[in-house]
Amino acid sequence: MVALSGAHTIGRAQCVTFRNCIYNESNIDTSSAILRRKSCPAANGSKGNKEANLDDRTPYRFDHSYFMQFVNHRGLLTSDQVLFNGGSTYSIVISYNWSVQAFYRDFVTAMIKNARHQPTHRIQWADPAPLSQAQQLKESKRVCRVDKDIPIIGFA
Ligand code: HEM
Repeated sequence: MVALSGAHTIGRAQCVTFRNCIYNESNIDTSSAILRRKSCPAANGSKGNKEANLDDRTPYRFDHSYFMQFVNHRGLLTSDQVLFNGGSTYSIVISYNWSVQAFYRDFVTAMIKNARHQPTHRIQWADPAPLSQAQQLKESKRVCRVDKDIPIIGFA
């Protein structure tokens, strides 16, 4: 679970998902909270759904800097920051903070394990209609689209 949460090294979160963390929680670094508040007002309003990078240092790089954020008490999501609050997951966060290779190794293992996981309940879905070649091309462009101003995501 800790390794998987490292996926938050890329991507963005809406203000509504981290407002409580930056206004009401005491275990977040104060200067970081103040900075984050600029893009997320205390009250829901026109800016209520503004977004922020989950990883404030290297938001477009799949690295271990999100774990460094926890260690410095700058985690944006409460569900992530709690991984560093002295419980059983604390030492794992420390180890990923030290070693990006350890993070990559465990992330890959966890993703494969997840993919192999057999659900206990089976839901019957109708098979989706196969996509035409044009639809496939459109879909792959949608999935792979990268903003022209954003450097390509890569491993550190
Ligand atoms: C305890 C489990 C998890 C929780 C509570 C959680 C929570 C969240 C939340 C609140 C956001 C922000 C969403 C938004 O504002 O729209 C988010 C974004 C994201 N999550 Fe998770 N997450 C979890 C697990 C995972 C896992 C296992 C992965 C992938 C392996 C993942 C990948 C991402 C990515 C890439 C984003 C950014 C999405 C974007 O930029 O549009 N998350 N997550």
